[in-house]
Amino acid sequence: MKPSSTASSSTATLDVVKTPNFVKVIVITIFSFSVITLLYLFPSSPFPSSISFSVTTPQQIKNNASLVSPRPKKTLPPPPLTVGERTGIVDENGAMTDDFVIGEFEPSAMDEFRNLTGGRGETSTKEDGKLTRVKYERFRVCEESTKDYIPCLDNVEEIKRLNLSGGLVIYERHCPEEGKGLDCLVPMPKGYKKSIPWPRSRDEVWFSNVPHARLVEDKGGQNWIALKKDKFIFPGGGTQFIHGADQYLNQISEMVPEIAFGQHTRIALDIGCGVASFGAFLLQRNVTTLSIAPKDVHENQIQFALERGVPAMAAVFSTRRLLYPSQAFDLIHCSRCRIDWTHDDGILLLEVNRMLRAGGYFIWAAQPVYKHDENLQEKWKEMQDLTRRICWEFVKKEGYIAIWRKSLNNSCYLSRDSGAQPPLCDSNDDPDSVWYVSLRPCMIRLPENGYGANVTTWPERLHYPPDRLQSIRMDATFSRKELFKAESKILE
Ligand SMILES: *[C@@H]1O[C@H](CO)[C@@H](O)[C@H](O)[C@H]1NC(C)=O
Ligand SMILES: *[C@@H]1O[C@H](CO)[C@@H](O)[C@H](O)[C@H]1NC(C)=O
Ligand SMILES: *[C@@H]1O[C@H](CO)[C@@H](O)[C@H](O)[C@H]1NC(C)=O
Ligand SMILES: *[C@@H]1O[C@H](CO)[C@@H](O)[C@H](O)[C@H]1NC(C)=O
Ligand SMILES: *[C@@H]1O[C@H](CO)[C@@H](O)[C@H](O)[C@H]1NC(C)=O
Ligand SMILES: *[C@@H]1O[C@H](CO)[C@@H](O)[C@H](O)[C@H]1NC(C)=O
Repeated sequence: MKPSSTASSSTATLDVVKTPNFVKVIVITIFSFSVITLLYLFPSSPFPSSISFSVTTPQQIKNNASLVSPRPKKTLPPPPLTVGERTGIVDENGAMTDDFVIGEFEPSAMDEFRNLTGGRGETSTKEDGKLTRVKYERFRVCEESTKDYIPCLDNVEEIKRLNLSGGLVIYERHCPEEGKGLDCLVPMPKGYKKSIPWPRSRDEVWFSNVPHARLVEDKGGQNWIALKKDKFIFPGGGTQFIHGADQYLNQISEMVPEIAFGQHTRIALDIGCGVASFGAFLLQRNVTTLSIAPKDVHENQIQFALERGVPAMAAVFSTRRLLYPSQAFDLIHCSRCRIDWTHDDGILLLEVNRMLRAGGYFIWAAQPVYKHDENLQEKWKEMQDLTRRICWEFVKKEGYIAIWRKSLNNSCYLSRDSGAQPPLCDSNDDPDSVWYVSLRPCMIRLPENGYGANVTTWPERLHYPPDRLQSIRMDATFSRKELFKAESKILE
C-alpha cells in the first residue's frame, strides 16, 4: 500500500510543478512559514491582533516612523495555568491546612450536601484517588420576622438598654457583640420576584419584594406611594413635591441656574428621603444622589429606594457624624425631613456644613419657609440667624423652597467677632474622621489652599485629578496626579 501511495503523490507533485498554481502553493507555504516564525518569535502575543496580515512593503516601512519599532504592540500574556498541588487555607499558626469550616453556602449547595450526608456532619468523596473532605455547619433558616434584619440596627437587646430620652439614638448603629449576632440564615420575603428593571422601577416595584404596607397606610393620602394590585407605585409627587418631582427640580434650576444639575452639581445627598423620588428623578439629570433615612417606624424606607434602583443607605442625624468625609457633596437636600436644624445650637446643620463642599448648596423645603403661623415664622427667623452665623449665603426663597450656599473660603469665618457662636473647630479636629465620632458643635475650617472649592464641571471633572488626592494619606507620596491619569487611561 505504502509504496504505491508515495508513487502517486510524487506524480501529482510533478503535475503541479508544470502549472502556474505551483507558484501560488509556494507563496502560501512561505507565507504560512513566516506566520509560524512570527508566532515563534513573539510567543507572548499569540493572537492575530498582533500579527498584521496586511502587506507592508519595505518602502512603506521607511515612510512610517511608527513602524520602525520591530515589535508589534505587546498584549499581556494570559496568566499561566497553575495546577494546584494542595488547596487549603492558612491556619492561625501560619501553616497551610485543608481542614477548614465553610460558613456560607448557596442554598442549592446546602441541599446537595445535606442529601449527600443525610444531615449535619462531615462528608468525604474520593475522586481520582484523591480524598476531598468537607466539614460543614448547617445553619437553620431564621424566622420569617427576621427578613429585614440588619445586625447593627436591629440589636434589640442593646436598644432596650439605651436611655430612650436620647431620641433618635436608637436608630444609630449598635452592633451586636461577638457571638450575639444571628446564627441563622435570613429568609427572603415570601414570593420574592426578580426586580422590575430600570427605568420602569422608578415608578413601580413588586409588593412581594418589599412587603411593608405601613408606609402606604401612613402616607397613602399624601400621594407619594400607593399600592395597586401586586405593585407599589410612586407617582413622584405628594406632599414632598406638590406638582411632581420633575417640576420641583425645574423650579430649583430656575431659582438658581448655577446649581446646573449634571454639570456643576454631580453628587447630592437627600436627607430623610422618603421613598427617594428626589434621587430617582435626579438620576435622569445625570446627578448621583445618595438618599438616607433612618430605619424607623415607617419600616425600612431605604428598601423602597434600593428596590427602585436609587442609591440609598440607612442613616440618622443624631449624635454621631455621618459616614462621609468633609466636602463630600455638591448639594444637600432636605424636604420635609422633620429635622429641627436649629436645636442644640444648630449641631445638625453644622454636620451638613461639614459634608457640604465649599460653595455647595443646601436646599430646604419645609413649612417654616412659607407658612405664616407665628411659631413657624419664629423657626424661619432662627434658621436665617443660624445660617448667617455659619457664613452661609442666603441665595433665594420661593414658594416652600429656600436655598443657601456654603462659603468658598475661610474669610467670613475669620472676620466674625471673637466669641461668635458657633465657634470654629479645633484645628486638630480631623473633619474626615467619622467612624464613631460624635457630632461637634463647631464649624470646620476649610483648607487654606482652597482644596475642594475648585471642581470642574462634569464630565470633565471625571478626568481632572481631584485636589483631595493631594491631602489624603496614601503610600504613593509623589506623582498622585500622574497615577490618577495613568489609571484613568488604563480604564479607558
Ligand atoms: C503609519 O502607521 C500608523 C499606525 O500603524 C497609521 O495610522 C498611519 O496611517 C501610517 N502612516 C503612513 C504614512 O503610512
Ligand atoms: C435532595 O433530596 C431531595 C429529596 O430526596 C430532592 O427532592 C432534592 O431535589 C435533592 N436536592 C438536590 C440538590 O439534590
Ligand atoms: C438619660 O438621659 C437624660 C438626658 O439626656 C439624663 O438626664 C439622664 O440622667 C439619663 N439617664 C440615664 C439612666 O443615663
Ligand atoms: C447625561 O449624560 C449623557 C452622557 O454624558 C448625555 O448624553 C446626556 O445628554 C446627559 N443628560 C442630561 C439631561 O444632561
Ligand atoms: C472668599 O469667598 C467669598 C465668597 O464666599 C468670595 O466673595 C471672596 O472673593 C473669596 N475670597 C478669596 C480670597 O478667595
Ligand atoms: C482650578 O481648576 C482649574 C482647571 O480645572 C485649574 O487650572 C486651576 O489651577 C484650579 N485652581 C486652583 C486654585 O486649584
